[in-house]
Amino acid sequence: MPYKLAIVPGDGIGVDVTREAVKVLRAADARFGLGLVLDEYDFGAERFLRTGEALPPGMMDRFRTYDAIFMGAFGDPRVPDMRHAAEILLGTRFQLDLYANVRPVKCLADNLCPLKGRTRKDVDFVVFRENTEGLYVGMGGNFKKGTPDEIAIQEDVNTRGGVERIIREAFEYAVRTQRKSVTMSDKSNVLRFGHDLWQRVFAEVAKGYPAIESNHLYVDALTMQMVKNPAQFDVIVTCNMFGDIVTDLGAQLQGGLGMAASGNIHPGRTSMFEPVHGSAPKYAGKDSANPLGAILTAQMMLDHLGAAKPAAAIEAAVVAAVEKGTCTSDVGGSLGTSATGDAVAAAVAAA
Ligand code: NAD
Ligand code: IPM
Ligand code: MN
Repeated sequence: MPYKLAIVPGDGIGVDVTREAVKVLRAADARFGLGLVLDEYDFGAERFLRTGEALPPGMMDRFRTYDAIFMGAFGDPRVPDMRHAAEILLGTRFQLDLYANVRPVKCLADNLCPLKGRTRKDVDFVVFRENTEGLYVGMGGNFKKGTPDEIAIQEDVNTRGGVERIIREAFEYAVRTQRKSVTMSDKSNVLRFGHDLWQRVFAEVAKGYPAIESNHLYVDALTMQMVKNPAQFDVIVTCNMFGDIVTDLGAQLQGGLGMAASGNIHPGRTSMFEPVHGSAPKYAGKDSANPLGAILTAQMMLDHLGAAKPAAAIEAAVVAAVEKGTCTSDVGGSLGTSATGDAVAAAVAAA
């Protein structure tokens, strides 16, 4: 069965790392006969500055015709308010209703683990970040803007349906992948309306999964425990903003932002995959960014599409690159972005 994929490299190192992810996808295609059809789109700051348009009209409908979408990263100093990124990245998450931002925190090699006395066995959990609500909905406004009396309000939107579906998705994933526990994290001791809803819905949904242990941690305690004893976690489910923050911490437990992958998923619909890191403008075009997070994102996308064998071959090739040091300097190697992609692609070709 052919897979039709939309590829959007975006800005900065998004372009550098996407090139390598595509290289590895093509190697997997040649080796495993996936029948990939890749359509590349130049959406990003450059096009936005040139045309005044972040996405052409009707693009979301066009995205829906693909099996999956791969995005690099967005963010450019020439667009300080990130208007184009909001439209492209958040627009895709919201308009395609990709409610589950799935971010694996898996340390692939002992030398990548930054915690004293811990190994890769201690860091292997998955964060389910709610991806369509919370503080990200952009509701609010200013009153008396620019004056000493200014008021700024940013609403935190939590719906019963939205909270329930992400919590359910986390439990379903735990069942599917034989994980022991789901930990819900909120700040319900302070956010007595929005996060009290999370508390009530979590208790209710958990009742339907008696074989899965359900735990709760306030988000401040969660960040502490992620460093103190990450081995206790299997699946973490949390709101949009907390999920954003704790997955950067999670990335560091895997060897840094250059290693972290993610999927923006609505089961059964066209989903979008992107590395966790941003466009890191100061490293753009320097052949120094780590492409492994983007390559693992491509792996996650193939796995999601049901191509388990090629996905496993890519993960094994990434592990080998890190263990042999055929990788970039942030993860202990001495290669550039492109040579790292070559090393992974060669290992996939030989799988
Ligand atoms: P960033 O993730 O771009 O970079 C932070 C730091 O992490 C870098 O300076 C670098 O030291 C390290 N890093 C990140 N990716 C790396 C890689 N592949 N290889 C090696 N090191 C890597 O975050 P930032 O500097 O806060 O943001 C830069 C721009 O990216 C901003 O415009 C921001 O809004 C945007 N951003 C976009 C996304 C996205 O598109 N998904 C995500 C985060 C940030
Ligand atoms: C991420 C990023 C985005 C987010 C930004 C760039 C809008 O930080 O994907 O983690 O906050 O979701
Ligand atoms: Mn982030």
